[in-house]
Amino acid sequence: MCGIVAYLGDENAYPVLIKGLKRLEYRGYDSAGVAILKENDIALHKCKGKVSDLEAHIGDASTDGTVGIGHTRWATHGPPNDINAHPHVSGDGELAIIHNGIIENYSTLKEELINRGHKFESDTDTEVLAHLIEEVRSNTDVDLFEAVRISLNEVVGAYAIVVMDRNNPNQLIAAKKSSPLVIGIGEDGTYYVGSDATPIVEYTKNVVYLEDEEIALMDRQTGLKIKTIQNREKTPYIQELELHLEALEKGGYDYFMLKEIYEQPRSIRDCFRGRMNLQKGMIRLSGIENFEDKWTNAKRILIVACGTSWHAGLVAEYLFEDLARIPVEVEYASEFRYRNPIINEDDIVIAISQSGETADTLAAIKMAKKKGAHIFGVCNVVGSTISRETDSGCYTHAGPEIGVASTKAFTAQVTVLTLMALTVAQKRGTISPERLHRLIAEINSLPDKIEQTLASNDQIEFISEIYKDASNALYLGRGFTFPVALEGALKLKEISYIHAEGYPAAEMKHGPIALIDEEMPVFVIATQGQSYEKVVSNIQEVKARKGKIIAIVTIGDTEVKKLADHVIEIPKTDDVLVPLVSVVPLQLLSYHIAVMRGCNVDQPRNLAKSVTVE
Ligand code: F6R
Repeated sequence: MCGIVAYLGDENAYPVLIKGLKRLEYRGYDSAGVAILKENDIALHKCKGKVSDLEAHIGDASTDGTVGIGHTRWATHGPPNDINAHPHVSGDGELAIIHNGIIENYSTLKEELINRGHKFESDTDTEVLAHLIEEVRSNTDVDLFEAVRISLNEVVGAYAIVVMDRNNPNQLIAAKKSSPLVIGIGEDGTYYVGSDATPIVEYTKNVVYLEDEEIALMDRQTGLKIKTIQNREKTPYIQELELHLEALEKGGYDYFMLKEIYEQPRSIRDCFRGRMNLQKGMIRLSGIENFEDKWTNAKRILIVACGTSWHAGLVAEYLFEDLARIPVEVEYASEFRYRNPIINEDDIVIAISQSGETADTLAAIKMAKKKGAHIFGVCNVVGSTISRETDSGCYTHAGPEIGVASTKAFTAQVTVLTLMALTVAQKRGTISPERLHRLIAEINSLPDKIEQTLASNDQIEFISEIYKDASNALYLGRGFTFPVALEGALKLKEISYIHAEGYPAAEMKHGPIALIDEEMPVFVIATQGQSYEKVVSNIQEVKARKGKIIAIVTIGDTEVKKLADHVIEIPKTDDVLVPLVSVVPLQLLSYHIAVMRGCNVDQPRNLAKSVTVE
């Protein structure tokens, strides 16, 4: 939450900052701002709204200067308005700061600073940091780097910050704890900073991911110096970025979400490529191979995640129990971490996170690690904090997901989790070689099946037009498709603001059936397989109450067709793989309904993609 970007170099900072902020806007879009240094003067421009509002706000004002910082905000402390927008400036106007995170002890610090005569303009915790650094600097004979380092020792909470000094156009200072921060190293003393690598990738491939409690000094002349905030020197570990620029563009689609839905045949293929051997009927995942004993002897798997990733975790529960015969518990990370859960050394904890930065998921794995469990990460963003905190893991390789509503990340997560369950099943001998062979071939055919499903887009758009004005919707699934029902409902509510609920189809009669009338669209995943007949009965129950049925069915289905108001056909696949295909029409439905309702599909209100606050 909140995106930070900074530049120190020979070019004008402003275009780099604005482009970077647009790339980071998925992290929050309540307000935006930049501070640019020119001739010992900090030009501060900031306003409520999106980066485009900031550009309009700046208009023709001067933005010259070769060092600058920028911020896009997801409000935590104080409403989204111009004053609370970042950057914030110290009381003496000597430094400007941008911040992503939460300073938990900000009110105590603020009170002390007020007692010392500091005056605050905003409601933010960030402004407190600016004043704290100013206070340390005025009371000690240290440079700004030291003043920031000393100040951070006073801070409780999470931060990724960049600080700019009015009197020093040759330096920027950055630091981080629990919020992500990447430094890009350009040529001849040029530096870029971002909350992730997306604002950096087109300028340099050489990056340093700061670790928690590290502080960096970027200096045009002396280069990059890193210390811990406890004052221990560190050698910068420079890595090469794997990100490609094209992956960050819309590529002709109206919205990133639509592009990402359409990317799924490719992203799923990228996810299993090199991990399955079709001829030998084998799967190899090094994250599991390297800890084979842990997996074969695991007494229990705990899965921690949030939102869509939690839904992927629910699919994994069905997968691991069915295929590998290991008991699984799926937990909301935010509940798990505060519940004093029972965690044993022979438990495996799987953390699922697209961003790899979700604060609750991160805290949950830190807690489980302390209790001795083996921690396995399923992350999309390479080099993300969660991927670095885990003992081992598997990347999903979905490529950057920019639309705030998760689509291709979900299917990539489910693909990885399927490969994992099959690998473990193979090692524990709970799956026959024939079934494993069949499932591998079936996974290999998924990209084509999803392609086929995407071809129903026009029909899905037509159905969306009919239901776009609904105020409520119900999503039903059973077995492997119950988590898909939850995911379908989440997609609709988060981008179109229609209230929607997902339910196990049979649970409907224990309450939600009371909601059904002729106005209520009920989306049912009724594909052929284990629970088909039962779901058909559930559809009958809805029809008897005049509900409108939109069913996802297997190609060639005739029974549900007789009952449903609309059917969307998907190709037949194995029960355990149905989530991967059946979720696609639900993603498209939500997308079209949201567009028809005039919603900003990529940036739904109140949301941010990377939830780095608890
Ligand atoms: C919904 C969505 C969110 C995320 C959740 C977890 O479309 O994107 O529910 O799934 O915030 O995020 P990650 O996976 O980054 O931990």
